Amino acid sequence: MIDDSELARNTEKKAAGRAAADMVEDGMVLGLGTGSTVDFFLRALAERIRDGLDVRGVPSSERTAMRCRDLGIELTDFKATDTFDLTIDGADEIDSAFQMIKGRGGALLREKIVAASAQKVVIIVDSTKLVDRLGSVAVPVEVVRFGHERVVRRLETQGVKCALRMAGDIPYTTENGHYYLDCDFGLIANPPAIQARLMATAGVVETGLFVGMCNVLIIGRGEETVVKRRGN
Ligand code: 5RP
Repeated sequence: MIDDSELARNTEKKAAGRAAADMVEDGMVLGLGTGSTVDFFLRALAERIRDGLDVRGVPSSERTAMRCRDLGIELTDFKATDTFDLTIDGADEIDSAFQMIKGRGGALLREKIVAASAQKVVIIVDSTKLVDRLGSVAVPVEVVRFGHERVVRRLETQGVKCALRMAGDIPYTTENGHYYLDCDFGLIANPPAIQARLMATAGVVETGLFVGMCNVLIIGRGEETVVKRRGN
């Protein structure tokens, strides 16, 4: 059963998804993020494709790949190209400097790769995702399975609360064969410093802190959108 606040958020996600689809130009290669907001974007993109738009996309997850197949969006991969015109993705939190926490949907590593491969990254969110400071949600950290207990202990001795993400009774395993630690840093004063600290820990593959990657932010507000560009 979907409640009123969920309905309102979906209206905003849909508006943001449609606005991002309107930014896509004929012939573009797209990086395709993952999540419910991206799903709205894919539906709007599929409508434009039915009207004649010619684009291809590299999906950041099996979920997105499956949605694209269902919607008739042509897929491509890194063998064919490694520079995308645009990557479109969602976020779990984003601040006024466009720093983000991503990865609650479990796809952060591939999302970071498709974002890093794009000339422009467009982030689409409902208005609840905007924060003054990152950290109300845990930072997902993708770790290799071997020795992940050591990573947990090292972070915990630094005062970070870590939870191994579970899928029922077993650890959640990413499409890359890794585990996820959801790490609670509290409110984060300096995201690049936390990113550097995490990446310096042996066994950490990537983190859900995305810094300096978003160029354009589209926020759904009711049925309208607000578009912000980095540097403006
Ligand atoms: C998945 C992500 C998503 O972009 C993020 O979780 C936002 O998802 P949603 O649009 O469903 O709120 O990072 O790994």
